[in-house]
Amino acid sequence: MDLAREAVSSAFGCLFGEVVFTSSGTESANLAVLGPALAARGGRRRRILLGAAEHHCVLHCRPVLESWDYEVVLVPVDSESRYRHGLLEELVDESTFLVSLMHANNETGAVSDIARLASVAKGRGALFHTDAVQTFPGGWRVGEAGADLVSVSAHKFGGPTGVGALNVRGGTPIEPMARGGGQERDLRAGTEPVAAIVGMAAALAARRDVEPVRNARDLFVSKLVQAGFVPTVSGVGPTRDETDKGLGSFGTVLPGHAHGRFPGVSAESMLIRLDRLGVSASSGSACSSGSLEPSHVALAMGWTLEEAREALRFTFGHGATLALAEEAARRVILARDEILAAGRA
Ligand SMILES: Cc1ncc(COP(=O)(O)O)c(C=O)c1O
Repeated sequence: MDLAREAVSSAFGCLFGEVVFTSSGTESANLAVLGPALAARGGRRRRILLGAAEHHCVLHCRPVLESWDYEVVLVPVDSESRYRHGLLEELVDESTFLVSLMHANNETGAVSDIARLASVAKGRGALFHTDAVQTFPGGWRVGEAGADLVSVSAHKFGGPTGVGALNVRGGTPIEPMARGGGQERDLRAGTEPVAAIVGMAAALAARRDVEPVRNARDLFVSKLVQAGFVPTVSGVGPTRDETDKGLGSFGTVLPGHAHGRFPGVSAESMLIRLDRLGVSASSGSACSSGSLEPSHVALAMGWTLEEAREALRFTFGHGATLALAEEAARRVILARDEILAAGRA
């Protein structure tokens, strides 16, 4: 476990003792948001800013924070689901205790410049947490981004499910959520799942190039666009610019995500047909793939209810090829054509 902690801390760019292993990204984010809030309960800073497009593992902390007398304010996103430092500047004040904004959105794939956002929060004395579940390790190190707390999850980069980690910068006030033995430097009681933790480190060592994934996704999107698909995010490829450290090696959009809609075609009908055609997709997050509720991310971007009901999300993993992307695009367009033909019939 020491070797694993060393590998994870090196990927974070933090000290060995600043890594807390958890059961998931969800638990990591819960601990990151609730742990400091509990530690500072009754303090002078009473305001907590949560991103409007966060994963539910952050947003669902809200009622608990409110029950502890914090005022929770949602930070808006732009039309591509990115957080903007200008909008954040308007909301962070001297009473702000904590700001929690994700690095990349799990539905749309849009990447926010987390270093810039962290500097706005830190500049006003607030703590900064980022949910980096979609981007870690990705050539981006928390040491450079300046966050106090960073949440990650092993199954997003090829590791096992059931293990995540939280990077807690030294000196951050934080109380544990799970209490019991003194594991994880008293921050997360419970016997550690050693096999899963070692698996997480092994996945870090086995990381593969994302370029083939990006190429497959780009081909897929370009085929869909020719058929009328409206992509949600405008991606700018990997940046080499040193000033863009907060974006990591992804550029402004994750390599494997394709999100958008066919105007006038409901996601529900698309998903039913795609399922039959052997294409996996969702309308909101992957965890809500069985749900037909309009996605809170689409609504946060300012989409109408009708547009939100058209939202489609596809993701490409390692192993994606151009031939596979082309075939997937063919089937998606076929599904769309069948729906339009049935509508006309
Ligand atoms: C952005 C983001 N945060 C948190 C999570 C939750 O992580 P876990 O599944 O490890 O609980 C996910 C997805 O699963 C995610 O995409």
